[in-house]
Amino acid sequence: MLIAANWKMNCLKADAILLASHIKSGFSGKNTLVLCPSFPLLAVVSGVLAGSGIKLGGQNCHFEEKGAFTGEVSPEMLKDIGVDYVIIGHSERRAGNNETDELVRKKAVAAIKAGLKPIICIGELGEERKNGKTQNIILGQIEKSLPEGSGYVIAYEPVWAIGTGLTPTSEEIAEVTGLIKQKKPQIEVLYGGSVTDSNCMEISKISNVSGFLVGGASLDIGKFSKIMNV
Ligand code: 13P
Repeated sequence: MLIAANWKMNCLKADAILLASHIKSGFSGKNTLVLCPSFPLLAVVSGVLAGSGIKLGGQNCHFEEKGAFTGEVSPEMLKDIGVDYVIIGHSERRAGNNETDELVRKKAVAAIKAGLKPIICIGELGEERKNGKTQNIILGQIEKSLPEGSGYVIAYEPVWAIGTGLTPTSEEIAEVTGLIKQKKPQIEVLYGGSVTDSNCMEISKISNVSGFLVGGASLDIGKFSKIMNV
């Protein structure tokens, strides 16, 4: 399985060092594990993880290689400091930074070109699920935000499940991940949204789920020890 920890905008240096060291010492090596701290913490966490086989991921990147883009980070810069993965199109960026499907695709293409593996997030809003629009939304995102070919991972993250403690049923997850696999059979699909130590085992058994993108529970070593070794 591929287990990715999205630390979002959390942790100061000392917290990150402590958390990464606990993760390093508790990791069984059974899964592919990717830690995605905020940009300023990447080098610090990289130092802690040295020799562990645990990978690093960014939480975003720009689509250009370099230039006059104040405040942005290019995929090449991430690759250059030893990062292998990058989360693209997280719903928090789609909502808070006006990231469109087209922009998400552009970023993903640039990340692949730079040698990174993008984890591209798609998922429906609560309102869309209530109105029976989940399939259409997912199909639209598949068509517009994913690049041609392979070299990336998809994270199915229902927006209403993020940070809420709510999760779809296993049948609902199987339905959406099945739809994604129908369209993109060669691509690994992760599930994200309120993954915890108590539901990770059940979700890991869904046939089209190849891993997790974990938010809140990845900051809690007690919970994350179980998830990362699932
Ligand atoms: P939570 O695990 O906190 O619900 O967050 C999920 C997420 O957004 C991971 O990218």
